[in-house]
Amino acid sequence: MIELAPSILSADFARLGEEIAAAERGGGTVIHLDVMDGHFVPNITLGPQVVNSVRKVTRLPLDCHLMIENADEFIPAFADAGADWVSVHYEACRHLHRSLELIAHHGMKPAVVLNPATRVDLIVDILPMVHHVLIMSVNPGFGGQQFISFSLEKIRRLAELRHEMGLAFRIEVDGGVAHDTVAAIVQAGADLLVAGSAVFGGGHPERDARGLLAAAREAADQVDRPE
Ligand code: DX5
Ligand code: ZN
Repeated sequence: MIELAPSILSADFARLGEEIAAAERGGGTVIHLDVMDGHFVPNITLGPQVVNSVRKVTRLPLDCHLMIENADEFIPAFADAGADWVSVHYEACRHLHRSLELIAHHGMKPAVVLNPATRVDLIVDILPMVHHVLIMSVNPGFGGQQFISFSLEKIRRLAELRHEMGLAFRIEVDGGVAHDTVAAIVQAGADLLVAGSAVFGGGHPERDARGLLAAAREAADQVDRPE
């Protein structure tokens, strides 16, 4: 099933509750929160305190994308804040297997994120442990960047591995997911679509979430029923 995960990075933080409610009415079923530390990525955003505030305004799963160093130190705090899914970067974790176990140990769904330059085949051994794999289709740090087209090949490779290994993890894509890219992304095999500026950037999150999701589902239907 195709799901839309609105990324609040592009929302108006002074009106976060309303923004999330609008994205939810538009069909968003997961809320994506971008946690940045100013070290792993050149930007600073939010931490467990904001996750906890968001927890109070929605029942949807909170998908925390950690773009931080020392993720292990903060995993308990995200669990306490009410995070449901936590993803850590392959490039930021010295002991990725341990970090994924720690997330699961705290009752959350573990996931791994790959930067654009990181090959999918590097994570084959830990695929049985993850709830989803997040393919970054921009370099992490900012919203509103252009989709990197070779990400489509990585999504296809990951879908192939999932099939070969008989696994059921989800394939999430983050960065430049918008009206002009979403069909190719879905057709490559992604099923969790993160979108920041395409949902919140135009000031009409309900309408824009609905339109993006409709385009994604239409593209998925074309794959299911080829002409
Ligand atoms: C970027 C973040 C994304 C960001 C995507 O580092 O991980 O979640 O919000 O923004 P858009 O959808 O505008 O590319
Ligand atoms: Zn993200």
